[in-house]
Amino acid sequence: MFEKKNFFVAPMAGITDRPFRQIIRQFSPDVSLVTEMISCHSLKEQHKNCPRNFDRYDDEGNIGTQIFGANAELMADAARILQDNGAKWIDINMGCPVPKVATRAGAGAFLMKNHKLAGEIMRAVVRAVDIPVTVKTRLGWDAEHCDWRELVDIAADSGVASVALHGRTRAAGYTGVAIHPDVSDCPIPIIANGDIKTVDDVRQMENLGYAGVMIGRAMLGAPWKIAEITDGKVPQNIVNIVLNHLDLVIDYYGSRSGVPLFRKHAAWYSAGMSGASAFRVAVNQITDEKELKDKISEFWGCVAKI
Ligand SMILES: Cc1cc2nc3c(=O)[nH]c(=O)nc-3n(C[C@H](O)[C@H](O)[C@H](O)COP(=O)(O)O)c2cc1C
Repeated sequence: MFEKKNFFVAPMAGITDRPFRQIIRQFSPDVSLVTEMISCHSLKEQHKNCPRNFDRYDDEGNIGTQIFGANAELMADAARILQDNGAKWIDINMGCPVPKVATRAGAGAFLMKNHKLAGEIMRAVVRAVDIPVTVKTRLGWDAEHCDWRELVDIAADSGVASVALHGRTRAAGYTGVAIHPDVSDCPIPIIANGDIKTVDDVRQMENLGYAGVMIGRAMLGAPWKIAEITDGKVPQNIVNIVLNHLDLVIDYYGSRSGVPLFRKHAAWYSAGMSGASAFRVAVNQITDEKELKDKISEFWGCVAKI
């Protein structure tokens, strides 16, 4: 099986924030993590709505920071800021399909349609920093334009260290099953992404020539997922993990923002359990930290540890 550092947690906007990354590290200290995507504009202009984008990463182990944008110079500036803030590598988003990024901003997945600009951005970012630069992309814009391999060659020529390949097109979004092409003859390491959840999935990616795997949604409500795959470790005391995650969220965002923000995590942790939908409905009404902790403790049948 791949080395631990070749297991990546996928960047997920609104999810892979610092508290979630801290929880994952408790199970998998040596895996590689990628931040939520960060706009190069907000970084450069110190956008007032994005203060949490100005995290420092020095204490976070092997962590890449993901940037998106359509302007090579701004992307290079953003990469420099993140390098100064302790990022271990810079990841360029060339796969995000949401209209705000891919069509309105001409960034993310749109760069799969504009290989010239994609190459300019890669070269500018590689020149700007001393740390490795990676790219995350998809198979192509749509089923008729699956030209990921051309983008990989541009990445290799631009000095990019590796490419994470989500096995869907921009048009497919998150629907259908991910398709993972054989990458044995690619000039740089390719990391497989999309629907990877089990040891068998990981072995299949090894056989197809991938250098690692990147796991996203399988981590939701299961921050131990990679440890489960690599070491067969599934924790028993879920309630303590949930409460610990909630504490980290509240430490980071404060109680007022942290309690509503935690609702989605509470839903994911409880998914599939008996009474989960009633629990979700109740949690969605709660605004008070102590009440949320009591509800979580009650749901998992424990006495509150607060
Ligand atoms: C809620 C959500 C947010 C995401 N945010 C990002 C992001 O910020 N940057 C990015 O490159 N991909 C983002 N993705 C895509 C994931 O990184 C990943 O490519 C996708 O979920 C497929 O992998 P999976 O099947 O393991 O989840 C996001 C996906 C989800 C579900």
